[in-house]
Amino acid sequence: MRKSNISVLGIGYVGLCTAVAFASRGYNVIASTHDAEKAAKINKGLPPFHEPNLQNLLKEAIDSGNLKCLVDETEKAVVQTDLTFNAVGTPSRADGSIDLHFIETSSHDIGKALRQKSAYHVVVIKSTVVPGTTQDLVKPLLEKESKKKCGTDFGLCMSPEFLRQGSAFEDTIHTDRIVIGEHDKRSGDTLENLYRDFYGKDMPPMIRTTLATAELIKYASNAMLATKISFINTIANVCEKIPGADVKVVAAAMGLDKRIGPLFLNAGLGYGGSCFPKDVKALIACSRTLGYTPELLESVENVNRAQPLRAVEFCKQQLGSLEGKKIAILGLAFKPDTDDMREARVIPIIIQLLKDGAEITAYDPVAKPTAKTIFNSKIHYATSALECIKNADCAIIVTEWPEFQELTPEDYARNMKQPIVIDGRRIYDPEEYSKELRFTAVGLGK
Ligand SMILES: NC(=O)c1ccc[n+]([C@@H]2O[C@H](COP(=O)([O-])OP(=O)(O)OC[C@H]3O[C@@H](n4cnc5c(N)ncnc54)[C@H](O)[C@@H]3O)[C@@H](O)[C@H]2O)c1
Repeated sequence: MRKSNISVLGIGYVGLCTAVAFASRGYNVIASTHDAEKAAKINKGLPPFHEPNLQNLLKEAIDSGNLKCLVDETEKAVVQTDLTFNAVGTPSRADGSIDLHFIETSSHDIGKALRQKSAYHVVVIKSTVVPGTTQDLVKPLLEKESKKKCGTDFGLCMSPEFLRQGSAFEDTIHTDRIVIGEHDKRSGDTLENLYRDFYGKDMPPMIRTTLATAELIKYASNAMLATKISFINTIANVCEKIPGADVKVVAAAMGLDKRIGPLFLNAGLGYGGSCFPKDVKALIACSRTLGYTPELLESVENVNRAQPLRAVEFCKQQLGSLEGKKIAILGLAFKPDTDDMREARVIPIIIQLLKDGAEITAYDPVAKPTAKTIFNSKIHYATSALECIKNADCAIIVTEWPEFQELTPEDYARNMKQPIVIDGRRIYDPEEYSKELRFTAVGLGK
């Protein structure tokens, strides 16, 4: 049987990993983006962002001729393929609601292409969109521009993506589950057949459902993970008031309960990135529009907004006034193994420290170029962790990069002006680091 030809719109983390995954398994994939610079990089086999294990596979996909990236040629990409994954960005608006502008413009383009096609084509929304978007926005736009009928002339599905940045490609090819929201049975069957062909005997558990349920599954999943993080951070904040209490031990014991599980119970300075903050806010905004106020999610969001500032509080407890104090920030990316700083918890920390008059030197193994676009010359940038802590009055672990675990208490004591270390991600053993350092950690009662 001939393998389907696939087009992918939006070539960020989701689009690029989807495109490379299908190309690496012999499918002919055409990607399309507005960003000429990004397309040029991709066509040379260079990922436009830091993502482990992606570079070699992208290079192979390009060299094999299975993947090419076009600039502003969505119609051409769609016309030449059988199925389109739409993975364009869906950012937050200022009020927290979701900005569907890219979904709208890309749906126009896909619709225009469908008008030129006589063969059946399936459009799959991979972007995270609030319930109702595929049925009430995408479908009418496709029908209007194509002058065709959804369900008979072309198919429409919503299949959310669950990858994690830092292991994006691995997650794409080894996902825990496939969700197919379908407009009609033929659309769902076509997408299921494609996934079955792609995964073969490793086909993950699959849920077939309505478009709106598929859309909500994505939000509910991210909201649950964000809730676990804000929950354990709440317990961490309680622990800090109780002498001898340690949230890390509390979480480890809780995690042994099969009903709770150990994952996403790491107390710290809160969650960031392009998904959790945006998706929690969008679910709140969407629920409010529907006449329901999701108070639990509002609290999840409030805890997360306050949590990074715990690091600044710890600094003040140790140093008093921060005016002129040298603070070393270890980690800028929102999590390890990425250079993405969207909603990174370090941003409110640095803004507050600067307001308080501190002098900041930061180090991150890969996110310095991203940080420069945010902070320019307002902070100093070190080229190693040791250089970063040199002569500092206080060091704060903001991202749990593995290389920070290699810094010993002696490294801090020998290099810093004052040996004050704040472990915002719980990477150090408090007993070992408290011996010769003034050591504070999130969720550690004094
Ligand atoms: N990043 C993640 O970890 C992740 C995980 C699961 C789901 N998602 C969701 O997937 C979607 C994409 O996320 P991402 O992080 O890959 O996005 P991203 O912001 O990294 O990239 C999106 C890309 O879409 C491009 N684009 C916008 N309009 C376009 C158009 N009309 N045609 C072609 N390209 C266009 C943008 O230029 C951008 O390069 C979002 O809805 C996001 O919420 C993201």
